[in-house]
Amino acid sequence: MARKIDGTALAAEVVAKVKIDVEDLIRHYGVKPGLAVVLVGSDPASEVYVNMKSSRTVKAGMNSFMHRLRETTSGEDLLALIDQLNSDPSVHGILVQLPLPRHIDANRILDAIDPAKDVDGFHPVNVGRLSTGTGGLVPCTPLGCIMLLETVIDDFRGLQAVVIGKSNIVGKPVAVLLLERECTVTVTHILTRNLPEIVRDADIVVVAAGSPGLVRGDWIKHGAVVIDVGINRIVGADGQRGIVGDVVYEETDHAGAVTPVPGGVGPMTIACLLSNTVKAARALSLPQETAAK
Ligand code: GUN
Repeated sequence: MARKIDGTALAAEVVAKVKIDVEDLIRHYGVKPGLAVVLVGSDPASEVYVNMKSSRTVKAGMNSFMHRLRETTSGEDLLALIDQLNSDPSVHGILVQLPLPRHIDANRILDAIDPAKDVDGFHPVNVGRLSTGTGGLVPCTPLGCIMLLETVIDDFRGLQAVVIGKSNIVGKPVAVLLLERECTVTVTHILTRNLPEIVRDADIVVVAAGSPGLVRGDWIKHGAVVIDVGINRIVGADGQRGIVGDVVYEETDHAGAVTPVPGGVGPMTIACLLSNTVKAARALSLPQETAAK
């Protein structure tokens, strides 16, 4: 039986550390970290995510500033809000929930966020820092994936890692983080030929394809570690709604370790967001040598 990697438990550890750091910032420096979350429109899945982000932020002892804008909000108005948040000293982290409505150029918006407050790690400065290994804020889901892998892998050097999915949010940054740990990384996507054969070589498989049940058990090498980033809402044959991953979990008994869905990567994303907000608050508010600790 494959070991189940418990994302809920690890996320609770990360959040416990965040709470301690928040208390420390408030007590010693008079700084209460604040996270601004911007939602444009009313996509139901995004609504659920931002509400969760906001309530967890408050639970961790930080300020949450929610900005809900109408679907018809112009790019200019959104940029004006970003400007205001960039210069607000009580805001240390800014997150604009994606996807944005089609009439808004998401790249233009992400480029406008102060890189020091970019807790999503999507600004080109942070993307560049990640790819050159020079610090910065690291995207939350990829960071969570690596932390989950670190619970079962001591030494990444020379391992074969296959990433399925090439998004800016998960696939590309997780590939960089694995490369930084000296894995041999293959990034694949929906048009990759012979995908099952490529995955069969992997010691580490990170699946972020957004395709329910894409990865079957016979794709997975004996003893491989599998991180399933998929969160797919389905309606089962019995009419029940549920959430499944991109991997057929029931077929992975021979794997070394696997993240379940739900309860794997999902909880880690929010935990890492809170952790990035504290990191940003420290970097913005404390002297450089203290902030880095
Ligand atoms: N939409 C889906 N995932 C994310 C994420 O990690 N950050 C933001 N801002 N939007 C998302």
